[in-house]
Amino acid sequence: MPSQVHVDHAPWFTESRLGMFVHWGLYALPARHEWVMSLERTSVEDYAAYFERFDPDLYEPREWARSAKAAGMEYVVLTTKHHEGFCLWDSALTDYKATNTPAGRDLLVPYVQALRDAGLKVGFYHSLIDWHHPDFTIDDIHPLRDAPNVEELNASRDMNVYREYLHGQVRELLTNYGKIDYLFFDFSYPEGPLAVRYPGKGKDAWGSVELVDMIRELQPGIIINDRLDVPGDFVTPEQYQPAGAMMSGGKEVPWEACQTLNGSWGYDRDNMDYKSVDLLVRMLIDGVAKDGNLLLNVGPTARGEIDPRASATLTGLGEWMRAHGRSIRGAHSTSLVPPADCRFTRAGNRLYLHLFAWPLKVVHLPGLAEHVSYAQLLNDASEIVIEKLDPAQVAINTRPGGQPAGTLTLVLPVQRPNVTVPVIELFLNDESELA
Ligand code: GLC
Repeated sequence: MPSQVHVDHAPWFTESRLGMFVHWGLYALPARHEWVMSLERTSVEDYAAYFERFDPDLYEPREWARSAKAAGMEYVVLTTKHHEGFCLWDSALTDYKATNTPAGRDLLVPYVQALRDAGLKVGFYHSLIDWHHPDFTIDDIHPLRDAPNVEELNASRDMNVYREYLHGQVRELLTNYGKIDYLFFDFSYPEGPLAVRYPGKGKDAWGSVELVDMIRELQPGIIINDRLDVPGDFVTPEQYQPAGAMMSGGKEVPWEACQTLNGSWGYDRDNMDYKSVDLLVRMLIDGVAKDGNLLLNVGPTARGEIDPRASATLTGLGEWMRAHGRSIRGAHSTSLVPPADCRFTRAGNRLYLHLFAWPLKVVHLPGLAEHVSYAQLLNDASEIVIEKLDPAQVAINTRPGGQPAGTLTLVLPVQRPNVTVPVIELFLNDESELA
């Protein structure tokens, strides 16, 4: 059964709920954030130091696919090109590509193959921004923004040429690699804080309307995100947890939160601000309870490997997903109000109660008594006893007071199961009545 809110032509997307984002490019060499070129105002000439030394001898996308699978992920999204402009594939439209580095090969070919072989959906991230292309005009986030002669430099730059390059490269990506399931464009800033000194860039700069038409023609099944400054198939909150379902034009829309492991997307060697497995699992659950996906990022090293810290996190996530995946995959929100520190998700005739904090012995669920026939812990399928409390019962000494009529009372063991987040699976009598 498809989730409540889904992309009509690609229901797999909201069904899968969890994907892997991979930020990998030349910025893995400096290893201090994927925006390093802009942050440090590095010229194209100086940045060439990384191009000349890009030699990912341990690149094995089958390993990435294995890690993603083991973490319970169902799709992977890799940066074909990030803002630095470097291309991982053998583009006919530039020399600034992996084939001309010591890597000496097209790195997308084995990536796409590995994902397909593993049964994972194939996603591309593609940067609209390009700090290497000679026709991309200097704006407020460009590495040359503080040069004394920006106006003069911009006079010889022609965004029409860049737009053609952008469209041409997208055409290559969607023509030469078979079926691509997902596209994440990044990003537009037509106005606002990133367009103060110089004009920003949005749908006109990118030719977004024509670009989307071309994409739909080349890959009718593909889904496209919302950062082209025109509406997409899903929205992409970044590095925050939405407070509830996400809306656009007064109606609920599919959404996917993209999240980092440590605040940086590219490999960031000295950044220790790692999110715990516990926090990530709770973020995943919280998102599904609001009808959202989680796209969790890793930034492989310049040698092509997912580093040990990221690997350990994925392993921890996978341990939880192995036993609890059915409260996540194909699951969606409900209109029920959960008790404190809990989240509900629902899939078919099962309702899942995720307990972020472990209470003492009982959980009361108002209004559910008539709807639930059986309860168990999801991690080991051990029964959770349902107690029939008489609503008229008054609290006295060791006897708790009655709850409102229709309350379902679950009796939990004192010992919390030793899993990241315990889940109780409730078997519903009927599918229709609960939202
Ligand atoms: C951003 C950043 C970027 C990252 C992306 C992921 O907008 O520019 O570095 O790739 O979001 O969503």
